[in-house]
Amino acid sequence: MAQFTLPRKSKVKPGKKHSIADGAARKKTFNVYRWDPDSGENPRLDSYEIDLDKCGPMVLDALIYIKNEVDPTLTFRRSCREGICGSCAMNIGGTNTLACTRASTDIPGQVAVYPLPHMEVKKDLIPDMKHFYAQYASIKPWLQSQTPAPPDRERLQSKADREKLDGLYECILCACCSTSCPSYWWNSDRYLGPAILLQAYRWIVDSRDEHTGERLDELEDPFRLYRCHTIMNCTNTCPKGLNPAKAIAEIKKLMVVRTI
Ligand code: SF4
Ligand code: SF4
Ligand code: FES
Repeated sequence: MAQFTLPRKSKVKPGKKHSIADGAARKKTFNVYRWDPDSGENPRLDSYEIDLDKCGPMVLDALIYIKNEVDPTLTFRRSCREGICGSCAMNIGGTNTLACTRASTDIPGQVAVYPLPHMEVKKDLIPDMKHFYAQYASIKPWLQSQTPAPPDRERLQSKADREKLDGLYECILCACCSTSCPSYWWNSDRYLGPAILLQAYRWIVDSRDEHTGERLDELEDPFRLYRCHTIMNCTNTCPKGLNPAKAIAEIKKLMVVRTI
């Protein structure tokens, strides 16, 4: 029988309250999802009221401040702090985005911080990316060519061919788009999702790649590609301003063209 409520152990309970902003002119409260698999306890929502003048402007700055000054047990991923590595992707104020490029003051009121939705959680704000990366590996994200490379220089492209990669090569594989996609929520075991399909298209349109046909063959499947129903959440949420839905539509067009 279908179950329409969360399993008992998944329910998020109220957590601890921390305030170190007494007398501060610019207070802000961050309500942060916490879950420790070793504790055997339910997830909880801890709240941290902090002084924004004591940390940098971005949500990631606030989380680092909380970890350093309030609660060293808070766990999250980050690396570059400038929107390049994709590791700080999380759900902030109800939107999947990068904590390092989202200003705390852009979110009205209290700031809710959760891990990316519909991924298994390793701990606190850290999703398990194993399956996502396995899907990425499945599209063979590297140049495939029988023609040997010139001995004395790179494989060259025309300016026009190079421009076809714009809007694709910038993807940082943060998974914000895939984890905002309802089709991916329900079918991530078989549907590749917008991030991986955008990456697949990046290699399909690369003029130096000679495996276009094989790449399309691999995607010709009711689930891997065609579970995209053009809902557009992916494009709306991409923190790099990319358009995975368009890349998916381009792959579908190529599928039609090659049957004519
Ligand atoms: S398309 Fe955008 S949201 Fe999706 S993985 Fe790439 S950078 Fe992240
Ligand atoms: S356009 Fe496709 S990939 Fe993007 S959110 Fe909708 S169903 Fe998912
Ligand atoms: S820390 Fe690298 S993208 Fe945010």
